Amino acid sequence: MSKTRCSFMTLIALCLILASCGRQTNSSGNTDSDIKTKDNIVIGFSQLGAESDWRSANTESMKASLTLQNGYELVFDDGQQRQANQITAIRSFIQQEVDYIVLAPVTETGWDTVLSEVKDAKIPVIIVDRMVDVSDESLFTCWVGSDFELEAKKATGWLESFLAEQKISPEEVHIVNIQGTIGASAQIGRTKGLADAAAANGWDLKEEVSGEFTQTKGREVMEYFLNKYNDINVVYCENDNEAFGAIEAIESAGKTVGNRITEGEIMIISFDGVSEEALNKALEAKIACITECNPLHGPRVKAIIDTLEAGGIPDKFEYVDENIFSAYDAIDWIMVDETEYPVIKLTSQVIKQRLDSFQ
Ligand code: AHR
Repeated sequence: MSKTRCSFMTLIALCLILASCGRQTNSSGNTDSDIKTKDNIVIGFSQLGAESDWRSANTESMKASLTLQNGYELVFDDGQQRQANQITAIRSFIQQEVDYIVLAPVTETGWDTVLSEVKDAKIPVIIVDRMVDVSDESLFTCWVGSDFELEAKKATGWLESFLAEQKISPEEVHIVNIQGTIGASAQIGRTKGLADAAAANGWDLKEEVSGEFTQTKGREVMEYFLNKYNDINVVYCENDNEAFGAIEAIESAGKTVGNRITEGEIMIISFDGVSEEALNKALEAKIACITECNPLHGPRVKAIIDTLEAGGIPDKFEYVDENIFSAYDAIDWIMVDETEYPVIKLTSQVIKQRLDSFQ
């Protein structure tokens, strides 16, 4: 299946594209990758950006799985959170005649035209992480990622139980939402899950503003909320980096983060749980609850490509298993497979030390 030859003209076209692009690297880490010359399987990976710890872990997972040693050449492109950049990258992958295109799309819509071009070029497309909303599902081979609405249901379910345990009535709950990038599946699912739960429980959902999944924006949005409202007691952050920014803003304003048990004034809920910083904040209850978003798609994409290379048909949609953690059940982290999850391995050691110190 691997296409290993490029014509001289293709080579010239490729050099021109890469010279104008400059964000692409190949598996050997060189910028402006040479065209393929060996029998490796060449994969163009359009990563949407580098906005969060989750994204860095996701990129690392892809790079660690799709290595030259394993017979894959990864041409990596960072879209810097802009769909136009991703579309340019995909067109350059077509010109390069890569064997597969992997796309982590920044938002759901707007992919029909470019994915039709990929289909015409007969290159299989694997979508990872967020979903694409296209009129024809044959425009991509398969998708692997998270059920973001389910994540939100887990997070809001945890909040419901916590409030019930603490005998806090719904009218006392005043929530703001720092949303992710508008139009991204992770934002759409998590925002919907909160809105549904707020309506069902009678919580006061005051306002939703995008923090674009970044710490800097998360802080800015939280400052805006704190200036506007004086009764916020729950902040729903659509990822951990936004939560870090929100904590900075709250503490700078002279308020405390935590929950009723730790006597914090404002309770933070977030998503991801891939960094040691996030898990430590959960242990301290500065983040009251984190719903896991699993970034380890590298081995899954490798398995999909191996299936396709062997003539098999992968599942069209593959949802990954995910968990939920709070300060009170952090011990569950220890149960996570440490060999697969290096960040957790580190964190598990921190948790074990903490638990030992309490005995
Ligand atoms: O699409 C996954 C989300 O994107 C992660 O929750 C977030 O951290 C990232 O930026």
